[in-house]
Amino acid sequence: MTAKKTSLKNIKKIGVLGAGQMGKGIAQVAAQTGFETVMVEPYDEVRKKAKKGIIESLDRLVELGKIKKKERDQILDRMTFAKDIESLNDVDYVIEAAVESTAVKEDIFKSLDRICAPHVILTTNTSSVRLGKLASVTNRPEKVLGMHFMYPAQKMKLLEIIRTPATSDESYNIVKELAIHMGKQPITVTDSPCFVTSRLIQTFINEAIFCLYQGVSSKEEIDAAMRLGMNHPMGPLELADFIGLDVVLSMQQALYDGFQEPKYRPCPLLLSLVEVGHLGRKTGKAFYGYNADGSKKV
Ligand SMILES: NC(=O)c1ccc[n+]([C@@H]2O[C@H](COP(=O)([O-])OP(=O)(O)OC[C@H]3O[C@@H](n4cnc5c(N)ncnc54)[C@H](O)[C@@H]3O)[C@@H](O)[C@H]2O)c1
Repeated sequence: MTAKKTSLKNIKKIGVLGAGQMGKGIAQVAAQTGFETVMVEPYDEVRKKAKKGIIESLDRLVELGKIKKKERDQILDRMTFAKDIESLNDVDYVIEAAVESTAVKEDIFKSLDRICAPHVILTTNTSSVRLGKLASVTNRPEKVLGMHFMYPAQKMKLLEIIRTPATSDESYNIVKELAIHMGKQPITVTDSPCFVTSRLIQTFINEAIFCLYQGVSSKEEIDAAMRLGMNHPMGPLELADFIGLDVVLSMQQALYDGFQEPKYRPCPLLLSLVEVGHLGRKTGKAFYGYNADGSKKV
């Protein structure tokens, strides 16, 4: 039997790992753009919730007249939901969107390398884990890339494709073709700390926290400066609360560790808020206070 060649037309079935905020959107995009899609999530409740969320999202598209009811049914028919990573043994392509932890992702990539056929390209949606680390735990470093979708993946147009020095042009071209097929506008990025999007947004948020810490202005005024002065939908401190201060800190730490430059040091105010568990909307408190339904306290 001859080995299957990697090419876009040979990609029929895509595996998505992790059914959290990003994974469910990515799986929906894959199924909507014609691929059989297997979503793997170890937690039953999360998997059920993701399936429900995808059905609701597709129903909204039907209501808005963006897709027909028949199309909605066909998209759902293309999707399967599994608990075990071994279910990815017959996929042609993988997008990993599990928790942001180097150790967890290294384990996943080791398993994927064992489970998936040699032609399969393995990608990750990581925002800050070094791609080289994941490539190096596999026997196919030339086929390991980043495919960094933005939140929400169904709606946002931009996609960062991250390549390492080991990535082959052949794999890169397939990932790019696939991104375009999925309706995304890809940009190409090297394996540099936090890539482009996360590096820029993080630096912006950390600088806003420094402005508050140094008493340059009040939190409301710093946010207003960016909302009203720069037309941003959310101010940087509101955005930090929305993302979660623990996530903001871990990204800032990844930038600082990656570049070893003082300009990336996390603001001490960010560190102290995280230390006392004031993480933003999810804990009800950080720069602003939040009600149980996530709305901002006035
Ligand atoms: N949230 C964002 O705005 C955003 C944007 C771009 C990229 N990312 C990246 O996407 C990835 C996922 O982020 P998220 O916000 O969806 O996280 P999340 O915590 O909402 O979801 C992660 C999911 O992965 C599951 N998981 C844990 N271990 C697993 C395993 N071994 N196999 C399969 N699933 C496993 C968890 O149970 C969880 O449901 C991260 O790498 C993150 O950095 C997040």
